[in-house]
Amino acid sequence: MPSLVITTGLRSDTALANLALELSRELQAPFIAREKRSLQTIREMAAAEAVFLVKKDRLALVIEGKELFFHPGLAKLRIKELQSGKADQMIGAMGLQEGNSLLDCTLGLASDALVASYICGPAGTVVGLEDSWAVAEIVRRGLKSYEGEKPEMLAAMRRIKVLSCHHLEFLREQPDNAFDVVYFDPMFRQPREQSSSMAPLRPLANRDPLSPEIVAEALRVAGKRVVMKEKRNSQEFQRLSFPEVVGGKYSPVAYGIIKKGGAGCRI
Ligand SMILES: C[S@@+](CC[C@H](N)C(=O)[O-])C[C@H]1O[C@@H](n2cnc3c(N)ncnc32)[C@H](O)[C@@H]1O
Repeated sequence: MPSLVITTGLRSDTALANLALELSRELQAPFIAREKRSLQTIREMAAAEAVFLVKKDRLALVIEGKELFFHPGLAKLRIKELQSGKADQMIGAMGLQEGNSLLDCTLGLASDALVASYICGPAGTVVGLEDSWAVAEIVRRGLKSYEGEKPEMLAAMRRIKVLSCHHLEFLREQPDNAFDVVYFDPMFRQPREQSSSMAPLRPLANRDPLSPEIVAEALRVAGKRVVMKEKRNSQEFQRLSFPEVVGGKYSPVAYGIIKKGGAGCRI
């Protein structure tokens, strides 16, 4: 986790400064009043690696010259396509339906969780786990306060529960079959060059590969299936014993599926 300093956007007011101070106490990181200073000056004054920036419309983390903030991104387009009757590969791989519960073990910027939450609906549950505290904080606040989208999209955001923890620790504490589907989208072993949306996440993200133990715990906790997203033709599907892999012919990614009680499943 990089060392942090907290400040506000250039157009600040008392409410923003108070929120920044509250965050500073929570994060035990220094707060420096912006006072027209550049972010680089603020960062240097605190000898910090990253700046937590509290702005009117969002919370952002500025690191290595890149800004990480919550936005519905591609999820918006995917939900639009679902609404027009098109299929979504991830939802298909999960076999997800209204009322289902999903544990997203690698929440990231919650794009996948948002599409899943839209499908699960108010009767369902989506819990997202994120190991990077800073990412979890930005996404939790973003999902809670993002505005300017259609009501069904905002409702899907508000329903996602964000927890900051390592997924193995969380999985170990869950009873058998606690969620219908358990999902993993780990950082790719080899990043896709053009995946610019993931670029600001990289310096903060947990990049460890999944282990067979994590997959076994996930299978115990899943009532129906465990799904993993990886690069198409990734060796990870074989290494982690996913018996089924689905994905469009021209898609750069694929989804590994282990169905509970299905062929290749040891539970
Ligand atoms: C590729 S991103 C996920 C992107 C996400 N599916 C989305 O739609 O935005 C992987 C995320 O999983 C997180 N992660 C990796 N290992 C984790 C672990 N053991 N526990 C919790 N989160 C983890 C990383 O920090 C990173 O933010």
